Amino acid sequence: MTQDGPLDLVGVGFGPSNLALAVAIAEHNAAVAEHDANTSARLRARFVERQAEFGWHRGMLLEDATMQVSFLKDLVTLRNPASEYGFLSYLHDHDRLVDFINYGSAFPTRLEFHDYLEWVARRFAGDVDYGTEVTGVDPVPGAPDLLDVVTTRGRLRTRNVVLATGLTPQLPDGVVPGERIWHSRDLLHRIDRIVDPERVIVVGAGQSAAEAVEHLHRRFERAQVWAVFHRYGYSPADDTSFANRVFDPAAVDEFFTAPAEVKRMILGYHANTNYSVVDPELIESLYRRHYHEKVSGRERLRFLNVSRVTEAVAAGDHVKVAVESLLDGTREALTADLVVYATGYRPSDPCALLGELAGSCRRDEAGRLVIDRDYRVATNPEVRAGIYVQGATEHTHGLSSTLLSNIAVRSGEIVESIVARAGATV
Ligand code: FDA
Repeated sequence: MTQDGPLDLVGVGFGPSNLALAVAIAEHNAAVAEHDANTSARLRARFVERQAEFGWHRGMLLEDATMQVSFLKDLVTLRNPASEYGFLSYLHDHDRLVDFINYGSAFPTRLEFHDYLEWVARRFAGDVDYGTEVTGVDPVPGAPDLLDVVTTRGRLRTRNVVLATGLTPQLPDGVVPGERIWHSRDLLHRIDRIVDPERVIVVGAGQSAAEAVEHLHRRFERAQVWAVFHRYGYSPADDTSFANRVFDPAAVDEFFTAPAEVKRMILGYHANTNYSVVDPELIESLYRRHYHEKVSGRERLRFLNVSRVTEAVAAGDHVKVAVESLLDGTREALTADLVVYATGYRPSDPCALLGELAGSCRRDEAGRLVIDRDYRVATNPEVRAGIYVQGATEHTHGLSSTLLSNIAVRSGEIVESIVARAGATV
């Protein structure tokens, strides 16, 4: 990695959040080129991505799975509806605009949205180091305005870093993943290794769990597919119009300035827009399938509700599983060919990469990072370089933080902040 002076920013991770940032930077630079002779106002950025190529949750790109947000909440439209990087431009480029209108839904499949994201990512291929992992971010001795981003292929010196490392899969305590015990994030990466199973078990009751049950039941026509979860039944995702406003760009302002207690209240009231909930159409479709099996007398799909898996241990080419009823404590011992834990994710901890810099980051009374409205981590005076976070900001910026809803606007705000701070230090 050779460098001609410090960069203005290094983006860590190149998922949708930093891809949206790349778009915002390109549009900022284009505007500078058009209106401003001062080319030093252009931002020089580089992105580092550990995957070998662009990929958005490839392990869960199930056929027919649809987006949970409108296509208008793409990488750019809410910030710049006239952008050449929007979903409509992608459709136009692929000669599918009219067909999409006739499709009659604001929710494309995840496969199509992935194709859109790849189409945009290809245009920034020269700005990204793929197959490269960031292992840390270091202060630069004697230069408080600079940071060194340490990667598996060298160092990048920069004035700002934007951490957008996404979500980390969560497994229940004690679960040891293996050949036949996986998190749902690996479903499509590994499913080809499973041939003609007799029984597969899916743990969890959220969207990914329901999608996995649906997929496995369709794919393995002879297999028993058993869903195990704590709830009585799947709960529907609240996608109604008033509740959806919690993802509006304006909601970020309101949430940011709300008292801590009101923040907690909002997160609690509206958790069912995102967490442990399932698209109502998928719930209906699973129930119908279950019912039709009852009618036919050949039941493959079973729901072990109000239950938990207490044990899942690899045993040769099987998994020994114990399921306990939370109602009466009875235990059932089972053998399965595969156990898929669709037990969710948590935002990656930005401090994991910050090393000694983490000690200069301010924290609130609950020990969480203090993050300013412009997504910059509040730091003590010894650090003047910018450390920005996309994703792990739910406690400060609200429910849209880990989602796509606000990435277009958020990226613009980060670019504005970086440009304004650069101006202030000139
Ligand atoms: P994302 O996780 O997408 O990207 C982070 C990137 O950083 C990854 O490419 C990773 O490889 C890279 N990375 C991590 N650490 C690194 C390191 N140290 N060095 C280099 N690279 C590193 N939301 C929504 O609004 N609508 C939806 O329909 C869906 N659907 C959906 C389906 C599934 C299956 C999941 C799991 C999640 C969703 N989501 C969603 C939520 C999801 O968080 C969101 O869609 C985006 O993935 C957020 O984009 P990010 O770029 O922030 O993270």
